[in-house]
Amino acid sequence: MLEKLKQEFEDLYGAPCEKVLFSPGRVNLIGEHTDYNGGYVFPAAIGMGSTLLYRKREEPVIRLKATDLSEIVEADIHQLDCYKNLRWGNYQLGIFETMKRRGYQITGCDLLYDDTIPHGGGLSSSAAIEVVTALLVSILNGEQPDMVQMAKISQQMEHEYIGVKCGIMDQFSSAMGKRDHAIFLNCKTMDFELVPIRMDGYKLVISNTNKKRSLADSKYNERRAECEHAVEELRKAIPAITCLADVTADMFEQYKNVIADETVRRRAEHVVMEDDRVLQSVKVLKDGDLAAFGKLMNESHDSLRDLYEVTGAELDTLVEEARKIDGVLGSRMTGAGFGGCTVSLVKEDAIEDFKEKVSKSYQKKIGYDPSFYITVIGDGGKLLEG
Ligand code: GLA
Repeated sequence: MLEKLKQEFEDLYGAPCEKVLFSPGRVNLIGEHTDYNGGYVFPAAIGMGSTLLYRKREEPVIRLKATDLSEIVEADIHQLDCYKNLRWGNYQLGIFETMKRRGYQITGCDLLYDDTIPHGGGLSSSAAIEVVTALLVSILNGEQPDMVQMAKISQQMEHEYIGVKCGIMDQFSSAMGKRDHAIFLNCKTMDFELVPIRMDGYKLVISNTNKKRSLADSKYNERRAECEHAVEELRKAIPAITCLADVTADMFEQYKNVIADETVRRRAEHVVMEDDRVLQSVKVLKDGDLAAFGKLMNESHDSLRDLYEVTGAELDTLVEEARKIDGVLGSRMTGAGFGGCTVSLVKEDAIEDFKEKVSKSYQKKIGYDPSFYITVIGDGGKLLEG
């Protein structure tokens, strides 16, 4: 596979590549819309991701192409802030621009990206591209890459260049993932623990709604603003809090009525309870209690549907149909929502039945097919060659 990509690079740019890097997407097991509230998340890096092939060029130009697109994008390294509205290439060039502003040297190069994560599918195809690009720039600058830093730079780029106020979860997972481990991350302190994931006889199955979504177009920033509003209101009663993650379930029960707006109150309730579900999930998974984890997954989805309102007919249908199958312990949306994917905990010998039945019912209700992937929990971003 890599040999084929290297050949493609050489055919395209007329010379062999000098470095090959890879960075993965992620699936979040639980802890949704908690990261930008200073809460806990529990994601894992997946096997799919972005492979980047690189070669130096003498001219001050970055040429970039994706294996699944025909055009080559060319960018002047002295005008890197001019490419924000590209249909493709803005995430990559945004990283070069952001790192340049941070004092990194940017030189001309030829790049080929091979992205295996479905775009806009909620599995962090963008974070994979960002982190692999940041890693390249760091290596070219002679650094021993600090992967947490690479994640932070990638998040900063999304805020400033793309305009999406995302949390740190996706970039952190892409940068820091470890094979067969999930990352239990405290997004306020950035303390984290790698938790071994053993699922004897079960698999995490990702189901893709195949409904296209874009974070920027969606209500993502609106949800974030609602949470900030909830914090402002709660501070009238509990001045010591700085984010929703500082509020325990008991505190919330006691003070929730200071939040005047009913919708904002529901958003806050989701975040407070979801944060608690992450703690419980880590505990039950360490104890090997998959059934208890499945139950928490279900509660998480129901809260995202009813309180946070980020699901929609496609995600809800996948989840409802999944839960009807014998051998499914839990099912929930993963990522930002508004389309994208679900993750289900499925008994291995029920997977074929799962795919067949969920697919049939989804097609009947929604009108087109979903796709399925069996999750392989892989490593975070790394240099493969060169
Ligand atoms: C997107 C964002 C993350 C996180 C999730 C929701 O994936 O990029 O930071 O907020 O949505 O949990």
